[in-house]
Amino acid sequence: ARVAVLLGGLSPERPVSLSSGRGCADALRRLGHDVIEIDPQNPGWIAELQDVAPDAVFNALHGEWGEDGRTQGVLDYLKLPYTHSSMLASAIAMDKDKSKAVFAQAGLPLANGKLMHRLDAAKAHPMPAPYVVKPNAQGSSVGIFIVREGANRPPEQLLDPDWTFGEEVLVEEFIDGKELTVAVMHGRGALAVTEIFVTSDGDWYDFDAKYAEGGSRHVVPADIPQTVADQCMRAAEAAHHALGCRGVTRADFRYDPKRDRLALLEVNTQPGMTPTSLTPEQAAYAGMSYDDLVAWILEDASW
Ligand code: DAL
Ligand code: MG
Repeated sequence: ARVAVLLGGLSPERPVSLSSGRGCADALRRLGHDVIEIDPQNPGWIAELQDVAPDAVFNALHGEWGEDGRTQGVLDYLKLPYTHSSMLASAIAMDKDKSKAVFAQAGLPLANGKLMHRLDAAKAHPMPAPYVVKPNAQGSSVGIFIVREGANRPPEQLLDPDWTFGEEVLVEEFIDGKELTVAVMHGRGALAVTEIFVTSDGDWYDFDAKYAEGGSRHVVPADIPQTVADQCMRAAEAAHHALGCRGVTRADFRYDPKRDRLALLEVNTQPGMTPTSLTPEQAAYAGMSYDDLVAWILEDASW
């Protein structure tokens, strides 16, 4: 088939999307498809897409504009089948605060938190440390700060006049312990639980730990009690369905073994497909190669 791969785009996650998109485009070529790469860096991409008139669109964008429902709305309008979630599911999932309201309704375990303007969050500690401040609608950990116990004040970066991560930030209690993640394939269910160990200089799973070679170590299946693994996998599936997602998603969790406390942080509707990404790794664990996964994502495309 003729497949247009969308990659790059306008969000701070652009470099990640270029890597995901190239990986997926190469796989689609190996699978025998006629692949055209389109980078929505300017409005001309829509006319380009109409000229190409693909059979399907493989959306490998991450973050603002590409993963948050806006691109999906354009593709709906053009009546082009596309991969991953619908406009509505994508939009809600990208808004961490609104998606938490949906998860709460579904009875899923969450971290306590509140949505604030970044300047208010910067005035005085918005909650007792340790806590996390995160942009409400970004990915790949861009613009996230963990405020540890004993910190004198909230992160000064929140006051930066050149701040580009959106005015709303979500302030949440920091759950000590493990970083866990679960990919869900629509109609097939959760693949596995991965535990992530940070091996970069930072002490948490930040952008560098995510994408620098050797920045983190992944253990799949995670070395946790089976009951916790089951709870994680059922929660990831429930979150996928509560948002009305399709295709593949990846739910991120924190788990504190001391307090046996699990918290669902978010669902990613276009999870990374880079060489260090977690979803292809879980697919491999489940017996699916990178190319198999890409083929499945494409088959699931609709509108
Ligand atoms: N936002 C990145 C790409 C992820 O969730 O994998
Ligand atoms: Mg994310």
